[in-house]
Amino acid sequence: MRSISLWKTNFLAPASAMPALLDDLDELALSVAVFEDEANELEETVRWRIDLTFDHEPALDKLEAGLQEIVGRHGFTLRLAALEPIPEADWLAVTAAAVKPLRLGRFFVHGAAARSEVPADAIGIEVEAGLAFGSGEHQTTQACLDAMEGLTGRRFARVLDLGTGSGILAIAAAHLWPEAVVTAVDNDPVAARVTAENALLNGVGGRITAGVSEGWRSDLVRLAAPYDLVLANILADPLIVMATDLAPNLASGGVVVLSGFIGRDLPRVLGAHEAQGLRELERVERDAWRALVLTTA
Ligand SMILES: C[S@@+](CC[C@H](N)C(=O)[O-])C[C@H]1O[C@@H](n2cnc3c(N)ncnc32)[C@H](O)[C@@H]1O
Repeated sequence: MRSISLWKTNFLAPASAMPALLDDLDELALSVAVFEDEANELEETVRWRIDLTFDHEPALDKLEAGLQEIVGRHGFTLRLAALEPIPEADWLAVTAAAVKPLRLGRFFVHGAAARSEVPADAIGIEVEAGLAFGSGEHQTTQACLDAMEGLTGRRFARVLDLGTGSGILAIAAAHLWPEAVVTAVDNDPVAARVTAENALLNGVGGRITAGVSEGWRSDLVRLAAPYDLVLANILADPLIVMATDLAPNLASGGVVVLSGFIGRDLPRVLGAHEAQGLRELERVERDAWRALVLTTA
């Protein structure tokens, strides 16, 4: 197994600094993850906790100087948490449960144990089962990956993965569209954490911002809009409810991949999105499960 030496720290940032602050931080750390600051829930102003992960121990004075300069530009004061190594035991706990390697179109989804088995012609995605949905085994995930491969002729710069689970679709998107920045959110904080870690493990931590969001109800999701591509593998009813938020946050000509529902529910999901001005481009079938590809144009 590859030896991984990771270090972490964090600081709080006001919502007003987002998302430009994240762009400025990209170069500084191996991964940047964003979480709503729980200790601050009762205050009116939303604050975000920015977690920075490094693949080496950074020099504290240089790190602080670099961050001071960046936060100064965004008009707030830096209060940096202590720099700490991430215990190897914690890291391994995330990678403990084995995923059965799966060849899914161009993708090879695997766990740590099969890291060396990625075929030369495949895009490897390393995820671990157990903590968050998205090992690649479910037909809805597979239908989304199929649909995404069908879109590789298009260019996407801003991608949202809503209901990211393990981050599998966000990581796939970061590989398929190397120029894209990806926002990956889940209403489960564990999934957001796992996604940040999986993004890092897959070498795309700098382009995926992982965080917690209940549907579209977070600054993180709203401030990075409009999106060229939205991926949402959730369930029929939440997708239908969220259709009214989705449409106004799509760029003109933007594309949506929806899954998490069976054939019987497809007309309801499609109807709710057609009512918002979207039209069907394609549908993918995997057993009883469906994915819909929609666009604004
Ligand atoms: C079916 S899993 C999909 C995981 C992964 N995207 C995949 O395709 O394998 C659905 C995910 O959506 C999250 N989720 C459900 N409702 C949500 C909501 N209202 N807002 C954000 N995430 C939600 C769940 O916690 C879960 O991780």
